[in-house]
Amino acid sequence: MSIPDSPDSPDRRDSPVVLVTGTRKGIGRFLVEHFVRTGARVVGCSREPVDFTLPGYTHHLADVTREEDIKSLLATIGKDFGRLDVAINNAGVAAMNAALLTPTAQLDRVMTTNFRGTALVCREAAKLMMRRTFGRIINFSSVALPMLIEGEAAYLASKAAVVAYSRVLAHELAPYGITVNVVGPGPIDTDMVRGVPADKIGRIVERQAIKRFGRFEDVANVVDFFARPQSDQVTGQVIYLGGV
Ligand SMILES: NC(=O)c1ccc[n+]([C@@H]2O[C@H](COP(=O)([O-])OP(=O)(O)OC[C@H]3O[C@@H](n4cnc5c(N)ncnc54)[C@H](OP(=O)(O)O)[C@@H]3O)[C@@H](O)[C@H]2O)c1
Repeated sequence: MSIPDSPDSPDRRDSPVVLVTGTRKGIGRFLVEHFVRTGARVVGCSREPVDFTLPGYTHHLADVTREEDIKSLLATIGKDFGRLDVAINNAGVAAMNAALLTPTAQLDRVMTTNFRGTALVCREAAKLMMRRTFGRIINFSSVALPMLIEGEAAYLASKAAVVAYSRVLAHELAPYGITVNVVGPGPIDTDMVRGVPADKIGRIVERQAIKRFGRFEDVANVVDFFARPQSDQVTGQVIYLGGV
C-alpha cells in the first residue's frame, strides 16, 4: 500500500479502503490509528460512539450481530468509496465461565458476536471486493483456542467457528482475488483481559514460547502481512502470536 506524506494528503483520494470492526477501544482502535497513518481511508464501527476523530477515518454505529446494520454499512462504503480493499473482523466479546455454568444468553452472545458477526461482515464485504477482483479479509482467533484454556469453552468454540469458516471461505473466494486469513493474538492489555485474574493470564503467557504480553503492534504486523497486495498466495492461514 502506498504511504502518502501526510494523513491529509490529497493522495488519500485514491488510497486503499480499510474496514475495521469494533473500533471504539482496544485492538480495533489501534488498527484505525495504524491504517490512518499509512494513508488509507478507514471505516470503523462499534455499538457505542467513539470519543476520537482522525483525518481519513469515518465511524459508524453498527452492531456486527445485526444483518441490517452490516448490509447498510457495506452499502454505504460501496456508495462512498466504490471499493473495499481490506476487511478486518476485530469486534469480539469474551465469555469466561466454566462450561457447566455458562448461561444460554452468554452462549448466544459470544457465538453471535464472534462467529455470526464475522460471517456477516465477510459475506457482505466479499460482495463489494468482488467488483475489483481484489480483497483481503482478516479475522480474529486467539491463542486460547490451540491452548484449550479451561473456563473459556464458549469463547474458544466461537473462535474455532471463525477459523473453520475462514478456511472454507478462503477456497470459495480465491477465484475472485480475495484472501481470507486469521490472526490469533496472545494476551494483550485491553478491557477484554482486564477482568481475568492475573494468575490465569500469567499461566497463559508462561505457556507461550515468547513469554510476554502481546502488543498492539504485534497484531498490526501480522495484519499488515495479510493485507499486502503481494500476499496474494497467502490464504486460509492462521498465525498465532507468541508461539503456541
Ligand atoms: N485482548 C486480548 O488479549 C485478545 C487476545 C486474543 C484475541 N483477541 C481478540 O481481539 C479482538 C479485539 O479484542 P480487544 O481485546 O480489543 O477487545 P475490547 O477491548 O473488549 O474491544 C472490543 C471492541 O469490539 C466492539 N464490539 C463488541 N461487540 C460488538 C458488536 N456486536 N458490534 C460491533 N462492535 C462490537 C467494542 O465496541 P462497542 O462495545 O462499542 O460495541 C470494542 O470496540 C477480539 O476479537 C478478541 O477476541 C483479544
